Order: sequence, then structure tokens, then C-alpha cells
Amino acid sequence: MNGMAWLAASALLAVVPVGVLAVLVLGGALALLPAVAGGLVVLAAAMLAAALAQRDLGRLHAALDRVEASGQVDGADPRLPPLAALSRRIARIARARTRRAEELSAALGASEAIIERLPDPLIALDAARAAGRANAAARAAFGADVPAVLRHPLLREAIDRAWQERVAQTAELALPVPVARTLQATVIPFETRLPDGTQALVVLSDRTRERAVEQMRADFVTNASHELRTPLASLMGFVETLRGPAADDPPAQQRFLGIMAEQAARMARLIDDLLSLSRIELSEHSPPAERIELGALVGRVLASFEVRLGERRQRLAVEIAPKLPAVIADADQMAQVLTNLVDNAMKYGREGGTVSVSLQPAANGVVLSVRDDGPGIARIHLSRLTERFYRVDKARSRGAGGTGLGLAIVKHIVNRHRGRLLIESEEGQGAHFSVFLPTSLDA
Ligand SMILES: Nc1ncnc2c1ncn2[C@@H]1O[C@H](COP(=O)(O)OP(=O)(O)OP(=O)(O)O)[C@@H](O)[C@H]1O
Ligand SMILES: [Mg+2]
Repeated sequence: MNGMAWLAASALLAVVPVGVLAVLVLGGALALLPAVAGGLVVLAAAMLAAALAQRDLGRLHAALDRVEASGQVDGADPRLPPLAALSRRIARIARARTRRAEELSAALGASEAIIERLPDPLIALDAARAAGRANAAARAAFGADVPAVLRHPLLREAIDRAWQERVAQTAELALPVPVARTLQATVIPFETRLPDGTQALVVLSDRTRERAVEQMRADFVTNASHELRTPLASLMGFVETLRGPAADDPPAQQRFLGIMAEQAARMARLIDDLLSLSRIELSEHSPPAERIELGALVGRVLASFEVRLGERRQRLAVEIAPKLPAVIADADQMAQVLTNLVDNAMKYGREGGTVSVSLQPAANGVVLSVRDDGPGIARIHLSRLTERFYRVDKARSRGAGGTGLGLAIVKHIVNRHRGRLLIESEEGQGAHFSVFLPTSLDA
């Protein structure tokens, strides 16, 4: 086929179907007019539905944004029933999530409160072993010095061991400032790091009191045996002398026996004082119940000192205020307090001096005071005077037959009475001991 024929044939082939199609479309369009109209309605409805759906979806998104931003669940109110159902479901889930978040934050708040109020200092350590948060007790104990505590060599070692061995480690730290303290530190490592970055905890508990009590107990045994050993050694020495060198020397025997009797009496007094101290300590938690008039008691006790006054040419000046209220006290123990204080005032006071005893009313109580005009006590000793066996001048006290327990007994009796003991003195100015006793134990 040549080129022209080919072109003609192609044109014919193209024209015929277009013509047929045009006839068909025109005819069909006329026939389908109702269907097209129906289709347009459907299309319009679909477009409306799509627009509604879009608006509802927009509201749902906005509602979800609010949930995300503030947990606030409010009605998106979609019009379309399926979206309305979806919206209700979303609201339900959002409410449950808010509730859960509130529960979680309440639980977290409770844990925080517990940690914060723990009486022992607690410090969290991060993975770099640096201090994280510290509870109120830690802040109160160390303030800004928490990192300094963590640098204590013994605590550092315990932290290193905890990191290596992955089990809790302890160390006992002696902190010299601001006040001397003994702390027991426990380092507790966590197997996995906590969400806030905590890798381990350091808990510090104050053992100052326990250590002091242990030390006191040890000192007490040492002191008590030492106090007993001295007269005992002297007794044994005299026994040897009486058996040997003084066997045929009756005047020396008499002299030695006198000293021996004195030493034995000293040992007996020491044992009596120790026993009475431990009895008072045992009853210290239960205060006395009787009401007594101190005026009469003071008179009776002082009468027993009359004889001794002459020994060192001393004078007693007594001043008892009229109409004193009765105090809650144990009469025997109050007599012991006054005896011990007047005994000291006479023993350590000035020869030829005056011992003044007074009984005066005070707010909610009565003050019993014993004052002397002797050499007094240097300030550095004042806080330790009531310790057992503490004596300013050991030789002088022993020479006067003292055991060093008199003021310790006074202090424990006053404690049991819920009273207060005040010691005021300056060297060369005499000493003033005053005991406040309450008229009722409620104050
Ligand atoms: N009035 C005082 N003046 C000066 N020093 C005093 C006075 N009272 C007590 N002291 C000092 O306090 C120390 C302790 O007194 P405390 O009464 O406890 O023991 P003591 O008198 O030595 O022995 P004890 O009372 O058991 O016989 C005394 O050794 C003394 O050094
Ligand atoms: Mg004494």
C-alpha cells in the first residue's frame, strides 16, 4: 500500500468510530438525564458528608491537642455518628489516662514525702558518683556541704566498693565540724539506674550518742575499778606491813589500823554511791508523785551539818522564803541533793567562810540554791562537773574522802524530778549551785 492510500484508510477508520460515539453519547445523555441528576445529588451529599467529616476530624484533633497539652478532656461533639462514637472512646481513654497520671503523681508525691521526712540524711548519687538530690535531714545536717561529706576518704572508699561489688557497703565516719559527730554511712547501689538518674543512695545515721554511751560505759568501768583499786592496794600494803615490819610495834599498828579503817570506809562509800546512782538512773524515767514542803526538809538536813561547821570555822546562812508552794519531789532524794551540795560547799569552800543556802519561789517552781565563798571552779570544768568521777583537783577531793560521784547523783536526781541544775562559778569568786524544781510536771 502506498502512502496516500494508507492515509485515506486511516482517516476513514478514525472518523467512523467518532461519529458512532457522538451519536451514542447524545442519545445516551438524553436517556440518562434522571440518573445524572441523581448522581449529582449523591455527589453533593457525599461532599457535604466529607465536609462534615473534615470539620468533625478537625474538632477531634483540637480536642486531642487539648488532652495532650493539659490532660483536659472536653466534648469535641462530632456530628457524624461513627466519629461521635470514636470521640466518646477517645474521651474515655483520655480520662483514664488523666486518672492514671493523677494516681501516679499522687504515689510519687507520697514517696517524695517519705524520703523528705526520713529522720536520717539521705543523698542520691548519679552514675558519676556525684551528689544528686538530698532530703531535708541531709540539707539540715550538711547544708551546702553535701559534696564535702561525700569526699570523706572512708565514705569515698565505701562508694567505690559499692560500685565494684554491687552490694551495699558501710563506713563509720568521724566528722569534726561543725560539731564532732560519728556517722554510720550505708551506700546502697541500684542494679539499674533509676529514671531520675539515681545510681545509688547514701544513708547516714547519727551514732554520736551510741558511741558516747559506749565510751562512757568503758570509762565508767575503768574509773570505778581504779577508784576501788587505790584503797584496796593501800589496804593490802598495810596488811603486809602489819605482818612484817610493824608486827612488834603496837603504836604503829594502831596508826595503820586507823588508816585501814578509813580506806575500807572509803570503799564502802564508793560502793554505796555507785549503787545509789544506778538506782536513781533506773527510776529516772518515772518522776516522783508526792508533794513535799522543801522548807522543813532543808531545816532538817542543815541541822545534821552543825557539828561539821566548826571543823573549818564556817558559818551557815539560811534564807527560806515564806509561803513557798509545795513541789513534786521525793523527800529522801531531795535530802541527798542538799547534802551533796552543802558537803561540797563546806569541803571546797573557804576555811572560815560562809555557806549560804536559800529557797526561793520561781515561775512554776522553787529554786534551792547553795553558794560558797571559796576558790570557785574554773570555767573549763563547769560542763564536766556532773560526770561520774570528774574532779577538778583529784588529790584534794580524795584527801577529803570524796568519790567524785556527788554531783553526778545530784544531776540524775534533778533529771528524775524534771528539774534543772545550774552551776555558776568563776575562779576566786566562790561557787553557786542552784536547783529548780517544778510545782507540777505538766509544764
Ligand atoms: N563548791 C565547790 N567549790 C569548788 N569546787 C567544787 C565545788 N563543788 C564541787 N567542786 C568540784 O567538783 C568536783 C566534783 O564534785 P562531786 O561532788 O561530784 O565529787 P566529790 O565531792 O569529789 O566527791 P563526793 O561528792 O562523791 O564525795 C569536786 O571534786 C570538786 O573538784
Ligand atoms: Mg561532793
